[in-house]
Amino acid sequence: MGILQGKKGIIFGALDENSIAWKTAMRCHEEGAEFVLTNAPVALRMGEINKLAEDTGSEVVPADATSMEDLSNLFDVAIEKFGKIDFILHSIGMSINVRKGKHYTEMNYDWLTKGWDISAVSFHKVMRTAWDKDCMNDWGSILALSYIAAQRVYPGYNDMADNKAYLESIARSFGYYWGKEKKVRVNTISQSPTATTAGQGVSGFDGFLQIADEVSPLGNATADDCADLCVMMFSDFTKRVTLQNLYNDGGYSNMGVSEGLVNKFINGLEKS
Ligand SMILES: NC(=O)c1ccc[n+]([C@@H]2O[C@H](COP(=O)([O-])OP(=O)(O)OC[C@H]3O[C@@H](n4cnc5c(N)ncnc54)[C@H](O)[C@@H]3O)[C@@H](O)[C@H]2O)c1
Repeated sequence: MGILQGKKGIIFGALDENSIAWKTAMRCHEEGAEFVLTNAPVALRMGEINKLAEDTGSEVVPADATSMEDLSNLFDVAIEKFGKIDFILHSIGMSINVRKGKHYTEMNYDWLTKGWDISAVSFHKVMRTAWDKDCMNDWGSILALSYIAAQRVYPGYNDMADNKAYLESIARSFGYYWGKEKKVRVNTISQSPTATTAGQGVSGFDGFLQIADEVSPLGNATADDCADLCVMMFSDFTKRVTLQNLYNDGGYSNMGVSEGLVNKFINGLEKS
């Protein structure tokens, strides 16, 4: 018996086998959960998700997470299949300014608005759809993925930093009502830099990844580590953890510098 035996859910954002959502779907399946997989229609055209669907015995339902109509249809399919559901994973992020290499100081505001809708407001839309349809079981769990650029400056992460700050705020604001009225918890996981399609699109990403790995006493959390934490957060072992931004980062968020980083810097200076 897995720790998610009998749990039903919806998983957004599995693009390919590197995706955090992909790894999470595999782990949820291993722990006995059943779920619907979803992604934007354009991402589904790549076809890779069908392999994940086969491996996990899941149905794939296309939905642009910014479209209330698509979300309504998606939740109707899940409700038809499962009745009420127990967990939702929002693993979605995209910035056109990042993608097109637009500098933060020269922000294109149309692109900003689109990226904000996809990366942050869609979390409200997902929860609003579930709320309106009253489809979450008591003690259900809703999760979204974030990054420490919501709190600290990472040049190159661009408007995604602002989107993540907004996303984390939505988790707290909506999470209050979910807790009070529906006994459902809402959290974000702030994950280490991870080599995925979204991650590698960020300028300077390899540097972020290596520095974080050097500074963190436990090293960077991998996508598999993140999947494990998602499983735990969907399980009954975390029933009263809510309104939190949970750092899954090997300790990075509480570090200043590490001896290793200082030594690398000093050695570099000595050589130059
Ligand atoms: N990779 C990292 O370094 C890292 C670190 C911290 C947090 N995160 C966050 O983790 C989450 C998952 O990203 P990932 O790293 O697995 O990369 P990924 O590229 O595999 O996943 C991003 C997903 O967002 C989906 N998406 C984009 N626009 C959408 C839309 N309109 N509707 C529905 N889905 C849409 C994409 O199709 C893709 O599946 C994101 O929120 C990301 O910001 C990633």
